[in-house]
Amino acid sequence: MKHHLKFTLAACVAGLVASSAVVGHLNAADAKEDAIKEVMKTLHKAPKGTDPTCKKASDGNASADELTKLVAGYTVLAAAKPPKGDEAGWKEKTSKLLASARSLQKGEADGLARYKEAVNCKACHSAHKPD
Ligand code: HEC
Repeated sequence: MKHHLKFTLAACVAGLVASSAVVGHLNAADAKEDAIKEVMKTLHKAPKGTDPTCKKASDGNASADELTKLVAGYTVLAAAKPPKGDEAGWKEKTSKLLASARSLQKGEADGLARYKEAVNCKACHSAHKPD
């Protein structure tokens, strides 16, 4: 009985390792690319006639819930690999963005100014967004 269990477990683990070796790398890369797009779509874009979260935040009108989403989204960005451009520049831009969103969340006096400077669509897109 004990023997049988051990065997099944070993076979199962071996199967897992084999399949993840084949698809693991691809999936990881895909997930990261999609993560950036997902953050852009949920925080920086909104249906016509409504303000995206980033606009509300820049106007000082984001709710506590929206600020939580902002911080969560920028945490994902900071951990992601840019699809284009150098990684040091990406790291710098995304950590500034994250730090400024945290500052907004804490209600710090310079939070708004820091966020507006950091959420520069053009500066980041020209360096890191593929054509
Ligand atoms: C810190 C960097 C950074 C900042 C700041 C930034 N973006 Fe992006 N954005 C990206 C990158 C990188 C992509 C490309 C993602 C990809 O193609 O994998 C992108 C893609 C997008 C897309 C396309 C998403 C899709 O579905 O393909 C939209 C829309 C967008 N950004 C809007 C904005 C707006 C609006 C702002 C400013 C308010 C902004 N972004 C600020 C990095 C940034």
